[in-house]
Amino acid sequence: MGAQPVVCSPVATLADLVQEYTDLGEPVVTQLQRLVAGWGVLSDLCFADLLLFVPVKGSDDEFVVVGQIRPTTSQTLHLDDLVGRVIGSQDRPIMSRAWSLGSVVEGEVQIPSRNERGRLVCIPVRWQDELVAILTRESALTVGRRPGVLERVYVEVFDRLARMISRGEFPFPVDEPAMAETPRVGDGVMVLDASARVDYASPNAVNALHRLGLYSGIEGVRLDEAGLEQTAVSLAYQTCLPAVEEVGDGETSVMIRCVPLLDQRVVTGALVLVRDVSDLRRRDRLLMSKDAAIREVHHRVKNNLQTISSLLRIQYRRMAPGEARHALEESERRVRSIAVVHEILSRDTTDEVEFNDILPSLLRMAEDMGSTDRPVLITCRGEPGRLQASVATPLAVVLNELLQNTAEHAPGVHDGVSAERPLRVDVELSRSDDELSVLVRDNGVGLPDGFSIDDTSSLGLSIVRGLVGTQLGGTISMRTDGGTVVELSVPLDHPSDDLESL
Ligand SMILES: Nc1ncnc2c1ncn2[C@@H]1O[C@H](COP(=O)(O)OP(=O)(O)OP(=O)(O)O)[C@@H](O)[C@H]1O
Ligand SMILES: [Mg+2]
Repeated sequence: MGAQPVVCSPVATLADLVQEYTDLGEPVVTQLQRLVAGWGVLSDLCFADLLLFVPVKGSDDEFVVVGQIRPTTSQTLHLDDLVGRVIGSQDRPIMSRAWSLGSVVEGEVQIPSRNERGRLVCIPVRWQDELVAILTRESALTVGRRPGVLERVYVEVFDRLARMISRGEFPFPVDEPAMAETPRVGDGVMVLDASARVDYASPNAVNALHRLGLYSGIEGVRLDEAGLEQTAVSLAYQTCLPAVEEVGDGETSVMIRCVPLLDQRVVTGALVLVRDVSDLRRRDRLLMSKDAAIREVHHRVKNNLQTISSLLRIQYRRMAPGEARHALEESERRVRSIAVVHEILSRDTTDEVEFNDILPSLLRMAEDMGSTDRPVLITCRGEPGRLQASVATPLAVVLNELLQNTAEHAPGVHDGVSAERPLRVDVELSRSDDELSVLVRDNGVGLPDGFSIDDTSSLGLSIVRGLVGTQLGGTISMRTDGGTVVELSVPLDHPSDDLESL
């Protein structure tokens, strides 16, 4: 093509280009999108590049390329990306002829990027009897010389599909689910006649049938007669629409896609693409069992942590009140705060937890520390969202320490604060793209004079400092302001170490 490239956005979609260059309406765009969604099969069947052109509005002889695909069964003719280029009839006179005649026109074209001539077949694309686009099949002159049976059969099927395109019968008026596993031409091809008997089966298709235990000759018989139980073929023949089905036993799975070939809405045969998906299914099963195994591990970790916490509880309950008993009580709660995270992780397949699912258990643990004459009322606001387990676990431990402290120190045991002035704790969590902020405010006595979090040697805040600094890579500050206010900020892209690094 010798035309000047037209400046247009490199990510222009088919819909953008059609809107920019033509007056074609929404239904036509949908139809063209369906055509290019499934045209990999067409390109592979004809061993050629396919280009889709629409006429430029206000011009008699200019077309813009709105789609391009290369075959996976043969070499490409076009090394350049041609989508968005406008070409005039002086470069491709036969395209204008196909447009004005409204019928298939064949000829040759000069390919500037390769400095050679190529073979061009122009196929009119119709939508509801209206000519809306031209599909071109473009290949080197050498492609298709001395073809074998397979090549001949494939190109014949392409020609039938091309006639369906020019009659407006292809693409089908349904959106087919786009699945990465959908069989392609290279996976295996069968061609059926009007009575659904197999006319031709490619070597790969025969292999796939072998895997399903069908060894007898398949040509000349229907798939159900040959022993292949499936409904895709009869469904496609009845509805005149493509049908997909997966057949096989537990070990072998073959996907079958039956595309009916129509002539004036009468089924004259079908293209059946088959793909052995046994390996994919085996991998799916493995992945599923891996997910189940990960969940099981979290479940067991949670159970083990709960056992440790019970053991600590049994132990401290036998002890007289004092420093040692208090230390064991604290340890028991710390272990429980980690168990909460594993509990939530064991319900999901991902390595993330909805932190709001963890908060109620943490709040309850702190509220349990209050008593009737010294109740602890905690309110929590904000949406922390889903957090990686590597953030959620240390954060749960940190929050647990801060809440324990409010229940333990804030009421001011010395000044005899009673139920008339219950201890209120507000927890606020706010999240931006890359940061989580946590505010814990109580209405208690405030911090002791000269307090600094960096200087404390007591265990609770040392754990907090360690986790915030190393595990979470965040910052923490504490001040007195009508009670104690703790502000915590945690970046959400911090590569964290293991809990052991404490
Ligand atoms: N919300 C709060 N209100 C008042 N004082 C607080 C508050 N949080 C912490 N403090 C003060 O900071 C000190 C250190 O807290 P830290 O959690 O490190 O130790 P602890 O709670 O005394 O013991 P543990 O190691 O068992 O947690 C507390 O003893 C208390 O004086
Ligand atoms: Mg403490």
